[in-house]
Amino acid sequence: MTELADAPIADPHADGAAGASVSFDVNGTPVSVRRSHPHLLAALREELDITSPKDGCSPSGQCGCCTVLIDGKAVVSCQYDLDKAEGKSIVTLEGVDEAERDAFANAFAACGGLQCGFCIPGIVMRAKAQIDKKGDSLTRAGMAPHLGAHLCRCTGYVKILDAIEAVAHGETFVPALSNEVGGSGAKYEAAPLTLGDRGYIDDIRIPGMLHAALHLTDHARADIESIDTSAARAAPGVEAVFTADDLPGSLRVGLIHKDWPVMIPVGGRTSYAGDVIAVVVADTRDHARAAAVLVDVTYEVHTPNTDARAALSDNAALSVWGTDSNVLSTSAYTRGDAFDAAFEASAFTVHETFHTQRIEHAFLEPESTLAVPSGSGGARTLHVYSGGQGVWDDRNDIAAVLDVDPARITVELVSNGGAFGGKEDMSNQAQAALAAWLLERPVKCTLSREESLRMHAKRHPIELEYWAGCDAEGRLTALKVRGIGDSGAYASVGMKVLERAAGHACGPYRWPSLDIETIAVRTNNLVCGAFRGFGANQAQFAMEGVLDRLAEQVGISGWEMRKRNVIRSGDEWGPGQLMDDGAGGAEVCLDTIKPAYDAAIASGKAVGLGLGLKNSGLGNGFREVSKAVVHFLPAVGDAVGRIEVRHGWTEMGQGVHTVALQVAAQELGVAPERIDVIVDTTRELGFGQTTGSRGTLMAAGSVTEACAAALVGGCEVGVDYEGEYVVDWTQKLGDPSVLNPTIHSAFSYAAQMVVVDPESGAIEKVVAVHDVGKAVNPMLVEGQIEGSVHMGLGYALSEDFPTDPETGFPTNMTLRSLGILRAKDVPEIEVQIVEVPQPRSPFGIKGVGEIGLVPTAPAVAAALHAVDGQWRTSLPMRRRDPD
Ligand code: FES
Ligand code: FES
Repeated sequence: MTELADAPIADPHADGAAGASVSFDVNGTPVSVRRSHPHLLAALREELDITSPKDGCSPSGQCGCCTVLIDGKAVVSCQYDLDKAEGKSIVTLEGVDEAERDAFANAFAACGGLQCGFCIPGIVMRAKAQIDKKGDSLTRAGMAPHLGAHLCRCTGYVKILDAIEAVAHGETFVPALSNEVGGSGAKYEAAPLTLGDRGYIDDIRIPGMLHAALHLTDHARADIESIDTSAARAAPGVEAVFTADDLPGSLRVGLIHKDWPVMIPVGGRTSYAGDVIAVVVADTRDHARAAAVLVDVTYEVHTPNTDARAALSDNAALSVWGTDSNVLSTSAYTRGDAFDAAFEASAFTVHETFHTQRIEHAFLEPESTLAVPSGSGGARTLHVYSGGQGVWDDRNDIAAVLDVDPARITVELVSNGGAFGGKEDMSNQAQAALAAWLLERPVKCTLSREESLRMHAKRHPIELEYWAGCDAEGRLTALKVRGIGDSGAYASVGMKVLERAAGHACGPYRWPSLDIETIAVRTNNLVCGAFRGFGANQAQFAMEGVLDRLAEQVGISGWEMRKRNVIRSGDEWGPGQLMDDGAGGAEVCLDTIKPAYDAAIASGKAVGLGLGLKNSGLGNGFREVSKAVVHFLPAVGDAVGRIEVRHGWTEMGQGVHTVALQVAAQELGVAPERIDVIVDTTRELGFGQTTGSRGTLMAAGSVTEACAAALVGGCEVGVDYEGEYVVDWTQKLGDPSVLNPTIHSAFSYAAQMVVVDPESGAIEKVVAVHDVGKAVNPMLVEGQIEGSVHMGLGYALSEDFPTDPETGFPTNMTLRSLGILRAKDVPEIEVQIVEVPQPRSPFGIKGVGEIGLVPTAPAVAAALHAVDGQWRTSLPMRRRDPD
């Protein structure tokens, strides 16, 4: 039941006798702030409303997003005590000289130095401090070590360093948007993103807004015997505490299965470390978080299932409350000759088991939701600002939780600070919505980094056992794969990830005999779901490893082995899909990388090669729809009328807004500066999640159609010209009645080569050749690939997110402990884009986001094998302690 706050007890954050305030200068203006803020960042953001410093990990000081200048030195403000700030001079991006702001904004826009933008304001402040000190002697090599205090999960740092060096050297740019498909114009909103002026959800302030904080479970598998909220209710500033008893409607939500409880009630059972027990709402975030700790829960603790294989055994206890099996899904198919006979008849065979690790997305912006009610009684509505990847799924689940007509809920997408798949499931949207609905007040809930690490779905650890054969000339004969993925507790899209791993298990190769099965297992580990690559990364690490082992037996190079077996147009692939002309991209990637491959080997380097494919879109029989609207506004005075392009896809740094803009400018023949790109969540323009590399091609398709409608209709002011793009010709994986199922409408392809110094073992260079069908904006595509390679190198070498086998809780709870590569550790990355058009796709687009790191880990493994002769079977390959 709703428990409203009663008489307050002592405020743990009350200002003491030492003085209630601290005084300092901010951007040249003297200010006084409450001493009770936990650090300088909180004072800047929460009291002074200075929001260019972003909060990615406070108070741990490990992401650099909150960097400001204090007496001219770059400092992470979330680690800076307010006491120390007394009398200091503090500069944020808001206070930087206008010409200098322009120089940074123009350089980052022109160089493509940003994607989601969340990390950039902090990096700009660090760069300013270095440029102030070193002037035009600052080089990218000199700057890279100073970025050790910063994380960027999107860019791979390459173009960030380009931009900083350009500013240091006084280069001037006049960045412009592009008016055509294929133009390397600036990213849409590049300047406000660089300067921290384009707000994320946590930057939004609403009068009367309250703050919510969550109380998470202490145990991954435990019965809830009681929940005592009295101490929390009595804590300073607390307005209310809500538990599952307060839910008017559905307890459970979920993208595919409704199995994920919004909160665990008394009498219920927890299933993973991210389960929510209570929501505390208070006047400030600090008060809400302090009070959330005071919620007192009594548990009967049970042993969690933390081993996926053990959870599959017949007598294993059920992992997840409310389910009837630990098998979430099985994806299986066979094709061609009987496997056993084909394997037996092979000249060379390999049998190997590979293990991949759990990975955290580490998007720099922790999840944040703001819910704003309006109206009253039966007319009451709720506007929810969400950074998620699928506003319609969010809306429907929130409506079910509140037990109201979905028409009363609007979920407005706010472009987020990175997602990579990790914001597909709801995190705190339902809890924030519940609190706002019941209190009839705006409520914001922003997760701490620790809560974010525990709550959202991760990349699956998968065990993959491969049996593979080839003939004496290296032509592949037979492949059998058995995969077990630890999907964690709730379904999320785990069954689809393992389905994709099955579909991609054979790589971009021709196989006469296939026998594939993957199982997604429910455990009490962290939930696993969507993450860039979506099962293909894991499968390709194994597949490419097997191919290299076979090549060694045959006595041919890794490149030659791939050349002899690569799929081509007309081939049967995977479960039997007849590949279209787009498949030619795989061989073009191989041929394009050949000169660099030969040259690196000839120079005595240790070289590894990986080839990969990744579907774009959901496929597997799903009907995918994207709509867009073009709307002309009247001229104002002498100014020509602006043009709105409205779509429903999530901008999370990947550039879907820029794609929409360039397509519209080209199709309408107008200047791109006239166009405003708007995510319109007041009508159903999108269909489902922004996932699977489909945003670009589906947004391009629907905007093209909307522009065509506008041109036919005369581009009248005030008319909504709607366009629709539909993919409805795919078929399900594993349906024996369909001989040649088209499980995916499009694939992108990539070959990557890793060059290692054979003496030191250091990775010197990565060459990434990607077939994207059509690069709508080659500069942004290049940036996406550089960022993917950075992520792929981390996946290969150092990233890990293990859980304690005794508890199911993560053992690393800081950003630094994740093993993400810092700027100084990123080798040279050379990107080459090839364009083999995808039939039936707008402009021939294939997509780029997900293929990015599919070939990276196997290429690293092959290069390291070339150094020491050791075959690697597990990721990461060079785990090291956090520095
Ligand atoms: S928010 Fe301060 S370093 Fe991350
Ligand atoms: S642009 Fe750096 S984290 Fe997204």
